[in-house]
Amino acid sequence: MDTIIEPFRIKSVEPLRLTSRAERERMIRDAHYNLFNLHADDVIIDLLTDSGTSAMSAAQWAGLMRGDESYAGSPSYFRFEEAVKELMPFDHVIPTHQGRAAERILTGLVAGPEAKIPSNTHFDTTRANIEATGAEAVDLVIPAGRRPEHAHPFKGNMDLDRLETFLDEHGASVPIVMLTVTNNTGGGQPVSMANIRGAKALCEKHDVPLVLDACRFAENAYFIKQREDGYGDRSVKRIVREMFSHADGMTMSAKKDALVNIGGWLALDDDAWAREARNQLILTEGFPTYGGLAGRDLEAIAVGLQEIVDEDYLEYRMASTRYLGEALTDIGVPIVKPVGGHAVYIDARRLLPHLDPLDYPGQALAVALYTTGGIRGCEIGSVMFGRQPDGSEEPADMELVRLAIPRRVYTQSHIDYVIECFEEVYARRDELCGYEITEEPPQLRHFTAHFRPTAPAAVHQATQTES
Ligand code: F0G
Repeated sequence: MDTIIEPFRIKSVEPLRLTSRAERERMIRDAHYNLFNLHADDVIIDLLTDSGTSAMSAAQWAGLMRGDESYAGSPSYFRFEEAVKELMPFDHVIPTHQGRAAERILTGLVAGPEAKIPSNTHFDTTRANIEATGAEAVDLVIPAGRRPEHAHPFKGNMDLDRLETFLDEHGASVPIVMLTVTNNTGGGQPVSMANIRGAKALCEKHDVPLVLDACRFAENAYFIKQREDGYGDRSVKRIVREMFSHADGMTMSAKKDALVNIGGWLALDDDAWAREARNQLILTEGFPTYGGLAGRDLEAIAVGLQEIVDEDYLEYRMASTRYLGEALTDIGVPIVKPVGGHAVYIDARRLLPHLDPLDYPGQALAVALYTTGGIRGCEIGSVMFGRQPDGSEEPADMELVRLAIPRRVYTQSHIDYVIECFEEVYARRDELCGYEITEEPPQLRHFTAHFRPTAPAAVHQATQTES
């Protein structure tokens, strides 16, 4: 059979509230054109994030009842620890309430004003946590990773030549090297095993630990199986174990590839770092056998980690993301190629060439998708990355809109509806106007900034020509 079906059926449903265009135009205006400000039940198809939005399985819901809420030494912790170590054999596994809490503890331990931390591309919370210590976060993805239209099987790879030069020049200031798998900010693109191995070899030469930001490790492993020579016959589980065998630690948001709604962890081999991390954990998260989580959350993660490496699930997951990407390409919508694991990224700079990067073309597209069909996507461009640490503004490398697909939540007809909305937005793309920011916080501004539409595009272009 060629049809790749959802390898599950639905036992419990959530209603969707269908809204009219007039209602949506009012609601987005009231939300200051920031999609994070919308009430989620005013959204029809929510592709804001794949984080914490997974549908849990019957086995996970059953696991919740098994959750043991003892303050210390809960059996749920030990089941969680065993499930993590089955895939990621680190000595110390420290639960946190989500990924950024693990990042906060790790950067608190290793970073500081003189430090420089390279990665393929840091996710925004990782970058913010590094910068909050006064350290510098450096992105060294391969050049293809910055070119949306350029197809490459492992576009998330670290540029190993640049990493080598960087370590030669700054090695003494580099406490850790990070690798984000898959590279979310660069389009959900995978990192090859050869690249992980290569990064590790350079780290060893300079005696620097390698830490994986591993939120989407299973999707990364499936890409390795499909695309990298020598891995086609290996099980995803074995590939996952090999990925982590090259690392000295990991940060994890369980809200992605552990198929749960909350949770994360920090895992390390180094005993002294782990001891200090647990001390910090107690200050802000909780006792080391629960971190920021309830025992039932730990149970759900333990089951989720078994389900995520199921290859029928991963085949369906990749096929459904690809289905959306290919349909958008057929319409003429430029996307980041190849399609990533958890999301389709639209190249808003190419779709809306009449807008300058600092007119926020990604925001313009995201707002248009909401008013047209109640679809919520996420700008990943100059709104998210344009503000510099000194408060100035620079265009980001790319102006993208991410449509992230929650795991096991939407069916193919939901995705067909998204495709139809795109047909309409594409037809009137020349009419979309830009946006300006009227209010913003100093950090992570995309979550709370207020926007105002600038003049309709035609007027806008005319004024720019005049001035
Ligand atoms: N690292 C990566 C690569 C991520 O994608 C995220 C979260 C985090 C770290 C932080 O984890 O949210 O549990 O604190 N990404 C979400 C997203 C928010 O929508 O891509 P967290």
